[in-house]
Amino acid sequence: MEQTNACNNLKGRHILLGITGSIAAYKAAMVCRLLKTAGAEVQVVMTALAKEFITPLTMATLSKNPILVEFFDPENGQWNSHVKLGEWADCFLIAPATANTMAKMVGGIADNLLLTSYLSARCPVVVAPAMDLDMYAHPATQQNLRILADRHVGIVEPGDGELASGLVGKGRMAEPDEIVAFVNELFSEKKKSLEGKHFVVTAGATIESIDPVRFISNHSSGKMGYAISEELARRGARVTLVSGRTALDCPPGVDRVDVLSADEMYEATVEAYGRSDGGVMCAAVADYTPLEAADHKLKKSDDDLVIRLRRTRDIAARLGAEKGSRLLVGFALETDHEEVNAESKLHKKHFDFIVLNSLRDAGAGFRGDTNKVALIDDHGREDLPLMSKRDVAVHIVDKMESLL
Ligand code: PMT
Repeated sequence: MEQTNACNNLKGRHILLGITGSIAAYKAAMVCRLLKTAGAEVQVVMTALAKEFITPLTMATLSKNPILVEFFDPENGQWNSHVKLGEWADCFLIAPATANTMAKMVGGIADNLLLTSYLSARCPVVVAPAMDLDMYAHPATQQNLRILADRHVGIVEPGDGELASGLVGKGRMAEPDEIVAFVNELFSEKKKSLEGKHFVVTAGATIESIDPVRFISNHSSGKMGYAISEELARRGARVTLVSGRTALDCPPGVDRVDVLSADEMYEATVEAYGRSDGGVMCAAVADYTPLEAADHKLKKSDDDLVIRLRRTRDIAARLGAEKGSRLLVGFALETDHEEVNAESKLHKKHFDFIVLNSLRDAGAGFRGDTNKVALIDDHGREDLPLMSKRDVAVHIVDKMESLL
């Protein structure tokens, strides 16, 4: 059970272990023990309800630290500073994490010490959800998990099996050794393999104004480009993310430059590219923009409206022309003749490889959390199955590393 020999990145790390009110709280004792055996320092923060499931005495004994539950000690008025806890921690692991606590994390509710610590935490946060199968499957819980993942909270997927309710399904907290291995992986040196490198990533949709009210744009959410930026930063690269309009938060450790139009994206990307080791062109950039944007709201009339469009400048083509020894990765979003079109872009824009996604594939392309891509270069094509955009990003960055 105790697989601490594989968890050699945890020595000396400060782990804030949050425990919430779930029957799975008993497993937090083993999580704590595994962390300690791997050499981590552990400070436990519990919700009031968690104390009903596992005693503070057990957790204090295992963690070798007093347990924190309240904002202050009613006996002597000593203040438990959530800000200091947030600064102290190298990782905030919440195991088990109930549906209630995760919903509050999403909503920014701060009605206990664990939640205020979450809002103050500057370190990576990981949750190990634990609940009944219907609670887990409920759209509210699933949406909250997606929002947390978008905010870069690590999620240790719950397992399938018999639940405390007697029902069988998905919702039981992952096993302690899996949870500790997940945290260990966060500190993996392998992920620092791009230290000293600098990449420019474009992401999201551009906005081309017609007048102060209307614009031309597309369906890109930015998720694919943000996942790539996050993966590059996780491996130690410096990342300049030139981002069109999106609702996403900037990934940790990434420098974001916000732009609106294709012209603005062009300027910002070319500027950052000059001092970089390469780029990933993931944005859905408008190919055409209104010849001129009206400075007042266009009034409607009974006639049809004709808007003249001019070509925008091609960012990737410019970067390709100035590539030198840099690594340049492009995307091709196609609806037909996919491979031919992607290969033509690969060569025209001097990409080292191109990531082809087709809107003909279910679960691929815009907006969703998944993508189905093929990585194409001069030597051939590697088809990847449908997977999360985060996993696609891992494959893309792995291929980039192999070419550096
Ligand atoms: O953001 P999401 O919702 O997660 O969706 C992801 C995505 C579908 C937007 C992404 O996976 C993707 O395919 N991005 C590229 C979309 C696109 O515009 O492809 P394209 O085939 O039209 O362009 C080819 C390449 O040239 C792309 O790398 C593009 O970024 C680049 N380009 C295009 C036009 C232009 N003016 N400048 C460019 O740099």
